[in-house]
Amino acid sequence: MKNLLAEVDDVLLMGPGPSCVPEQVYEAIRRPTLGHMDGQFIAIMDELSEALRTLLHTKNRLTLPVSGTGSAGMEAAFVNLVEAGDRVLILINGVFGKRMQDLAGRLGAEVDTLEFEWGTPVLPDAVAERLKTEKYRLVAVVHAETSTGVRNPVEEIGRLVRVSGALYLVDAVTSLGGIPVRCDEWGIDALYSGTQKCLSCPPGLAPVSFTNRAIEKIRSRRDKVPSWYFDMTMIMNYWEGARRVYHHTAPINMIYALHAAVALLLEEGETAVFERHRKNHLYLVSELEKLGLSMLVAPEFRLPMLNSVVVPDGVDEASVRARLREEHRIEIGAGLGPLAGKIWRIGLMGHTARRENVDRLTGALRSVL
Ligand SMILES: Cc1ncc(COP(=O)(O)O)c(C=O)c1O
Repeated sequence: MKNLLAEVDDVLLMGPGPSCVPEQVYEAIRRPTLGHMDGQFIAIMDELSEALRTLLHTKNRLTLPVSGTGSAGMEAAFVNLVEAGDRVLILINGVFGKRMQDLAGRLGAEVDTLEFEWGTPVLPDAVAERLKTEKYRLVAVVHAETSTGVRNPVEEIGRLVRVSGALYLVDAVTSLGGIPVRCDEWGIDALYSGTQKCLSCPPGLAPVSFTNRAIEKIRSRRDKVPSWYFDMTMIMNYWEGARRVYHHTAPINMIYALHAAVALLLEEGETAVFERHRKNHLYLVSELEKLGLSMLVAPEFRLPMLNSVVVPDGVDEASVRARLREEHRIEIGAGLGPLAGKIWRIGLMGHTARRENVDRLTGALRSVL
């Protein structure tokens, strides 16, 4: 075997995730691996769950990181909450809403959608209109649509869903740690996130949170949860209570990493972290505009952590990305789906959201363009 690991470049990660990982998180991964039933490790799990509750602004007892990336969080939420024949409504304005539709369909749900133009937000009025005439068991939306850089009005939609009686499921993979996410206040019944975006931890875990209402739905299912690995009724017996029941071997060192990443975030303070994202986003936009570049999304709906930049006419977007990677050791993202070839996606996620990184990227773009 060649020692390829010794040759891994130190790349400035300014794409749609993963983001740059701070030294303290790498140090956490290097701590000795404990057994998954070890008392010391269980104390670390408990502390992490509590810190996730703080981060998500929730009292939900069932708050923990599922083993796997953000998609594992999506899978865990849907397989537990959706049964064949359930009527569900998915609000779609990008790739990650489409994935929810696909997954709910695979579970045999009767899936309705409300679709909005990519690059624009979900409109609460349209949701209100639909909920007046149709009854759903679950309504799902992506908070930060990473494929376009749009922030969806999760709080406003939450008020409508609550009145309708449906469960409210939110994808907070990209939003958590970069903009406010307030589970309890916003009436969210189930939420999933991921480690590799604004939490600045390598990919591998998916924080999830479920209300008691959501747990009741799981407990009253007609059939067993169709996924063994993601069955929350079993996973909670490992994460909670005086006696822990083995389900699967927890990814111990990834849990150390997330523990360290969340501790760093809470230490800096949520308000300061959000402000750092906002300020650097505004600085990036102003520097890009100086280069003659324009943004895809209208200012009021832009995400600070995911900036979609229109590729100018006559520019080969892939070769710009390749040169940034090869000559400047910087990664940015390409457009997805209908936006492929039309936009670049520049991430300012977590630890990456710093002025010096904006300067390095815009300097590199100046020379490449
Ligand atoms: C909004 C959103 N949801 C879900 C996912 C899936 O996460 P992962 O790629 O970590 O499985 C992503 C990843 O980019 C995302 O941006």
